[in-house]
Amino acid sequence: MFRPVRHPAIPARGLEPVAERIIMANVVVVGAQWGDEGKGKIVDWLSERADVIARFQGGHNAGHTLVVDGKVYKLNALPSGVVRGGKLSVIGNGVVLDPWHLVREIAAIREQGVTITPETLMIAENTPLILPIHGELDRAREEAASKGTKIGTTGRGIGPAYEDKVGRRSVRVADLADDATLVARVDRALQHHDPLRRGLGIAPVDRDALIAQLREIAPQILPYAAPVWKVLNEKRRAGKRILFEGAQGALLDIDFGTYPFVTSSNVIAGQAATGVGLGPGAINYVLGIVKAYTTRVGEGPFPTELDDADGNRLGTRGHEFGTVTGRKRRCGWFDACLVRQTCATSGVNGIALTKLDVLDGFDTLKICVGYDLDGARLDYLPTAAEQQARCTPVYEEMPGWSQSTEGARSWAELPAEAIKYVRRVEELIGCPVALLSTSPEREDTILVTDPFAD
Ligand code: IMP
Repeated sequence: MFRPVRHPAIPARGLEPVAERIIMANVVVVGAQWGDEGKGKIVDWLSERADVIARFQGGHNAGHTLVVDGKVYKLNALPSGVVRGGKLSVIGNGVVLDPWHLVREIAAIREQGVTITPETLMIAENTPLILPIHGELDRAREEAASKGTKIGTTGRGIGPAYEDKVGRRSVRVADLADDATLVARVDRALQHHDPLRRGLGIAPVDRDALIAQLREIAPQILPYAAPVWKVLNEKRRAGKRILFEGAQGALLDIDFGTYPFVTSSNVIAGQAATGVGLGPGAINYVLGIVKAYTTRVGEGPFPTELDDADGNRLGTRGHEFGTVTGRKRRCGWFDACLVRQTCATSGVNGIALTKLDVLDGFDTLKICVGYDLDGARLDYLPTAAEQQARCTPVYEEMPGWSQSTEGARSWAELPAEAIKYVRRVEELIGCPVALLSTSPEREDTILVTDPFAD
């Protein structure tokens, strides 16, 4: 019988070999609360084993602090991978980029001895830029907002820059390469911005000065511009490990957060794929970063917020001040209900539980297990802001522990009550602990599951 001979290089039905056959663990790290969960340390810890570290949303509203060999690095826009040699760091199209801030950040990090070149840093050509007009608009709106409508933004122009992206009037990285396009893109943006500014009592934009500023910064940004979607697809086919570094937290997500008190990007894990130009199959493991209690900066609902000595104690022991704005963070008990929700919307496979040591010395700990709304018990936070504001937490109490857990590197070093607390958190959120972090030092970590293990 005649059998057609198929050349091994030509797969069935003429399709290209699919990347899905390559079993590689690409990991997404997302904050599973309102940001500031301690992602910096975990991302740094994981980045040692990654080949590529990619930012996929947000902008320089993020503040990531890394401690490497005793040296402290503070990053806003740059992926955390830049501080480790031999890695490719990527700013994906899902990010909004302030080019002036980036150039300053690169200069500051170079001063600390870090090498950054177009081989180690790539910026997606289709990344929208944050212009000075975005920051001005952000701050003017916040100033003009009445009580109850202020968002408490970082004032860095994130929201207005994303508005221009979906409004199809952004200046993008690629536009910096061609002067006529650049001028046309600026004019398109100003058609929208000048009337807005008039309404808020801000002077019209100095068009020529803005174009001059962009022309000046262009040669400092363009060397890093690349078709990131293509580079990352090639890396993936070559079996390289990609670490997707999320910023903010899932409760600040534009769709699933406590709207309108949210940031303007999708923060949840699904954004990792669209924010760099890979298919959803590229994500193998989602690690949610979860603080052992809850904090929030800015306005908006916070059911377990503590306005008392316990809240102050969490803030003081946890050094809860914003890294970007220096604002005092609001503090409260652990909200298992909210974390169960964010684990679901991000498809979290395992969590990294951070700052357990901040709970040392409390006689009793409370965990929110649901809400009471008009006498009805809810197991999720309702969507309507008005209902969110009326939800009161239902607490479960657990005994605390008096011993220190700071710096623990094994379960054996933890008091029994601390282990019970961690186990109860796992049960309530329906997700296992993969890592437990007990201090800012990278070695002070208890590893249960390696997210990068194939
Ligand atoms: P925006 O992202 O500057 O527009 O701010 C919107 C909200 O997100 C405000 O409540 C900010 O405090 C909050 N936010 C933005 N970035 C971060 C972050 O990196 N950590 C914690 N909160 C953030």
